[in-house]
Amino acid sequence: MAAALQTNIRPVKFPAKLRALTKQSSPAPFRVRCAAASPGKKRYNITLLPGDGIGPEVISIAKNVLQQAGSLEGLEFSFQEMPVGGAALDLVGVPLPEETVSAAKESDAVLLGAIGGYKWDKNEKHLKPETGLLQLRAGLKVFANLRPATVLPQLVDASTLKREVAEGVDLMVVRELTGGIYFGVPRGIKTNENGEEVGYNTEVYAAHEIDRIARVAFETARKRRGKLCSVDKANVLDASILWRRRVTALAAEYPDVELSHMYVDNAAMQLVRDPKQFDTIVTNNIFGDILSDEASMITGSIGMLPSASLSDSGPGLFEPIHGSAPDIAGQDKANPLATILSAAMLLKYGLGEEKAAKRIEDAVLGALNKGFRTGDIYSAGTKLVGCKEMGEEVLKSVDSHVQASV
Ligand code: IPM
Ligand code: MG
Repeated sequence: MAAALQTNIRPVKFPAKLRALTKQSSPAPFRVRCAAASPGKKRYNITLLPGDGIGPEVISIAKNVLQQAGSLEGLEFSFQEMPVGGAALDLVGVPLPEETVSAAKESDAVLLGAIGGYKWDKNEKHLKPETGLLQLRAGLKVFANLRPATVLPQLVDASTLKREVAEGVDLMVVRELTGGIYFGVPRGIKTNENGEEVGYNTEVYAAHEIDRIARVAFETARKRRGKLCSVDKANVLDASILWRRRVTALAAEYPDVELSHMYVDNAAMQLVRDPKQFDTIVTNNIFGDILSDEASMITGSIGMLPSASLSDSGPGLFEPIHGSAPDIAGQDKANPLATILSAAMLLKYGLGEEKAAKRIEDAVLGALNKGFRTGDIYSAGTKLVGCKEMGEEVLKSVDSHVQASV
C-alpha cells in the first residue's frame, strides 16, 4: 500500500486567503512525487494538517522528527501546510476546503494533528470541524484504519490496569473507516407522524466493504502473531450478520491465521479483563472508534497512540488518535509522542521507508528510557517535561542513535 510512483504533478492554485495560511517549506515549481530531486535522495511531498487545539504544537514537533530521521536515510521531504477543521472554518467558512483535499490527494502522505474545539461545538453539523475530518477520510478513500495499542515496558505504571494485566499488551485494532453508521443513509432528524422529532442513522455495509477491510486485517494478523478477532453485534444487527458471514468465508484464504468472533459488548469487557488475549481486532467504524479509545487507556495514555488510515492506492492519512484537547492547547503540555509515532507509521505504511520509521520508534523509546515524561504519562521518579522539551529529547535521541551506530 505504499504511495504510487507518479511524477509531474501540477501545482495546486490557491485562492489568496488560503495561500496566506499555506506554508510551503521548500518552494517547488513542480510538485514531483518520489522523484530523485537531488542525487541519491528520495523526495516525498507531505501535506501537514495541523488543525485545532494542540494539533499545531504536536505537528510542528513531528515534522522536525520526520525530517531528521528521514535525512539520515537519504529522504528529502517537502512539506505543505493546509487548513482543516476549526482552523479552516475560521479562515474560509468550511471545515474542509477543496484546496486541502486536492493538496492531500496529490501528496505522498498526509499527517494530521487534531480537529475540534469548544468554539465550534454549537455549529450546525455540516459546519462542525469533525465533519471536515470525515470528509477528508472519505475523499482520500482511506477505508482501513490501523490503531496499534502497545504497552511499553517504560509506561506500564501509567496504565490504570494492574501491572500483570497491562504488561506485554500488544494489539492492533483494524477499524473500517469510510462506511457503516458514520456514512450510511438514510440519516437525519425529522418530525414523525406524531409530530415528534426523531434522529436516525443507518448501519450499512456492502459485501465488498467488508471483504476489503477483512483482507487488510488478515494480512495484518499474518505479519503479527497470526490471530484475528472479528468484533460485531451479529446477535442483533443485520449488518453484523453479513459482516460475520463474509469474514468467515474469507478465512479459507488465510489458513495460517486463527480467526475468532466476539460480540462488541463482550469485547469491551475482555479488553479490560484480559487484553493480552488479543492480537489483531477487526471491526466496523463505530465499534472501532469506541474500542480503540478503550484500548488506548490500557497503554497508559491516549497521548501515546498513533494511527494509519490507508486506501487501496492513494496517499495515507496519519494521525494521533487523541483529540484536540482544547483545555491544554497552547500551554506546552501536550504529549507529542502519538503524533511522532504517527510520523513513524507514515514512513512505514505510507512510504514503505521502514528504516527511517524504526529510527523514530527507537528515538521515542530513547527519550522514555532517559525518564522524560509529559504530564499524561508522568509517574513518580520520572522527569516532567512539556511538549517542546519532549520533542527536543526525541530529536536528540534520533541523533544519538546515529552516533551510537557509527
Ligand atoms: C477518531 C475520532 C473521530 C471519529 C471524530 C473526531 C470524528 O473520535 O478518530 O476516533 O469518530 O472517528
Ligand atoms: Mg474516536
